[in-house]
Amino acid sequence: MQYSQKVLDHFMHPHNVGKMENPDASATEGSPSCGDQVTVFLKIDKETKIIEDISFLSYGCASNIATASIITDLAKGKSLEDAKKITYEDAMEALDGLPPVKVHCSVLAADTLQTAISNYEIAHGLKEVPNFGKETILAELKKIIYPQVGTDIVTLKMVKYVGFSDGEVLIDMNMMNFDTWRENVVEEINEHLEKYPEVKKIQINFP
Ligand code: FES
Repeated sequence: MQYSQKVLDHFMHPHNVGKMENPDASATEGSPSCGDQVTVFLKIDKETKIIEDISFLSYGCASNIATASIITDLAKGKSLEDAKKITYEDAMEALDGLPPVKVHCSVLAADTLQTAISNYEIAHGLKEVPNFGKETILAELKKIIYPQVGTDIVTLKMVKYVGFSDGEVLIDMNMMNFDTWRENVVEEINEHLEKYPEVKKIQINFP
């Protein structure tokens, strides 16, 4: 597996590592595909809503550490509104790319940053707790990376239909039965959606 020099630099000498005392917000997220975890801590200026300080703890692989390091660099000094626009693609670009099977590591880092920001906004009455629905399901599916090419399954048009009613999630997938990643993707869909108390049953159909 080929890592860029930047990934290696951030892995060997990560920026903004460590637990923050009395953060204004934090979030811990895990990647269903590998079990690795990241925690992000934020210190936010009450008036300007600028991220004054940010740090992370990683419980994962080399690119987990590198992507968390770069994502905290990208967010530091930004307003919450600007930091909300930071994506996993930004992290990958700043690291000069990642191997396809490691793209999910950058998704995890970006996701944890966004959850920490969202936790801050909810705690400070800047936004309401979102209702669970089709939008939530689609947002979760967009976090699932098809490892062979390193792109999410929604962008790859592998998701044909998403429905939600009476606690039942219905997903029609566009993946052939000879696709060797199919089981892996199904497992990830389940793990991403099972954490929501609103979800009682998950039905995934294939052609
Ligand atoms: Fe899963 Fe890197 S975060 S292998």
